[in-house]
Amino acid sequence: MIMSNQLLKGKKGIIFGALDEKSIAWKTALACHAQGAQLVLTNAPVALRMGEINKLAEQVNAPVIGADVVNMDDLKNLFEQSMQHFGGGVDFILHSIGMSLNVRKGKQYTEIDYGFNQKTLDISAMSLHRVLRTAYELDAINEWGSVVALSYIAAQRVFPDYNEMADAKALLESVTRSFGYHYGVKKKVRVNSISQSPTRTTAGSGVKGFDGFINYAEKMSPLGNASGEDCANYCVSLFSDMTRMVTMQNLFHDGGFSFTGVTAAVIEQMEK
Ligand SMILES: NC(=O)c1ccc[n+]([C@@H]2O[C@H](COP(=O)([O-])OP(=O)(O)OC[C@H]3O[C@@H](n4cnc5c(N)ncnc54)[C@H](O)[C@@H]3O)[C@@H](O)[C@H]2O)c1
Repeated sequence: MIMSNQLLKGKKGIIFGALDEKSIAWKTALACHAQGAQLVLTNAPVALRMGEINKLAEQVNAPVIGADVVNMDDLKNLFEQSMQHFGGGVDFILHSIGMSLNVRKGKQYTEIDYGFNQKTLDISAMSLHRVLRTAYELDAINEWGSVVALSYIAAQRVFPDYNEMADAKALLESVTRSFGYHYGVKKKVRVNSISQSPTRTTAGSGVKGFDGFINYAEKMSPLGNASGEDCANYCVSLFSDMTRMVTMQNLFHDGGFSFTGVTAAVIEQMEK
């Protein structure tokens, strides 16, 4: 981990989505803690039952408050309890949540079940709206606060096996812009998404052909794939005061993948 500069000293944040130590949210919680932040951890009740999160809670000295991200009562309770715990508003939020029911059930993009699809879009994308709206109504985020959601380049370009999650990420990035506008005007709160390289986590490995996918991205990125730890550090920078004027953006964090047409490594592979 990068040496601490106490970039988040005095800041208070809520981290959604730490399932196990591979989770990007887990690594981000550790990085924020190392940079001096105070945290509240949250995840869906089913994820909390795994119990892993308690290890993280101990390491970063944070309470764990359960919330299903598509349940507005859960979210209200989460924010109220967090504000009580912190003795005031929050300065940053990490939305690190994704789930595709159709992928889980083995349905291809051309044959998705629309009931599952609605749940996918709600959990993976509109949940950001739900979180922001709850905070907005409770006035739970401090001025110049920063909210980050995690996205993937399948929102812009086709990666066939990413399935309905591509549409979910496109919607997530749109909510980032739209709510970013309203929260910026109301309270100078910033909202951005980070478009991260493929990363070996529970959600990531659920994508069909993930191994081929991650190796291809590695070869197609001048710097190689960005790791979960790198992503955590990028989150810290976005939560810090060093990036105060950045909002409504989808920020590629991918070692250069998004702007690379082809690499020598891939050409070499094709000539074999
Ligand atoms: N792993 C990758 O390759 C990759 C690449 C780009 C973006 N992302 C995004 O990063 C984010 C974090 O995923 P990860 O890769 O760390 O995997 P992960 O499986 O560790 O995290 C996903 C989290 O979503 C939570 N979640 C699911 N349904 C929920 C609900 N109803 N309420 C509350 N929480 C719920 C899970 O409990 C889990 O903690 C996701 O948005 C994912 O799409 C991942």
